[in-house]
Amino acid sequence: MKLLAFAASSSSKSINKQLASYATSLVSDASVEILDINDYEMPLFSEDKEAEIGQPELAKAFYAKLGQADGIIISFAEHNGSYTTAYKNLFDWTSRIDMKLFQSKPVVFLASSPGPGGASSVLAAATASAPYFAADVKASISVPNFYENFDIEKQAVTNPEIVAQLKAAVAQL
Ligand SMILES: Cc1cc2nc3c(=O)[nH]c(=O)nc-3n(C[C@H](O)[C@H](O)[C@H](O)COP(=O)(O)O)c2cc1C
Repeated sequence: MKLLAFAASSSSKSINKQLASYATSLVSDASVEILDINDYEMPLFSEDKEAEIGQPELAKAFYAKLGQADGIIISFAEHNGSYTTAYKNLFDWTSRIDMKLFQSKPVVFLASSPGPGGASSVLAAATASAPYFAADVKASISVPNFYENFDIEKQAVTNPEIVAQLKAAVAQL
């Protein structure tokens, strides 16, 4: 099984990247690729920019990565209740190649923030809209209070209830 995981964040210290990476460690018998969306940085999407430059190679490459995966884990960072600009830009460009950009792949959506909200607003938005983009969402899990539930040194979730939720989620991929 080819598992693709990434954080919908461009932060070099992304807590969501750490969470997505930890989630992959709970999957046995998978070849894992952790993608960095900084490697897919493109001009700010607009229809004018699209008319000017067409479909960027990086958007095509990202679409191909999604297509090559057997299962996908995305952990969403929340900025002002919504997607980070970096992810939304990548998402918008890729959706112009194919609106069904997740290509019916099984996906697990995660989200985390340092606060009690656990980035649940962006997670709800991503989950509610998933059918339009052909994502087969197997589970959506918000991890609140990241630094209380994750051991940075060990790079592992410490809360046993969350570990159990994550294990059950990734088992469906
Ligand atoms: C511009 C900005 C807006 C933010 N808005 C929210 C928010 O709406 N809800 C939230 O829980 N955290 C918010 N945060 C805090 C993020 O959850 C925190 O920076 C987290 O580390 C982001 O995830 P990441 O480390 O994976 O990028 C915001 C942070 C920034 C920089």
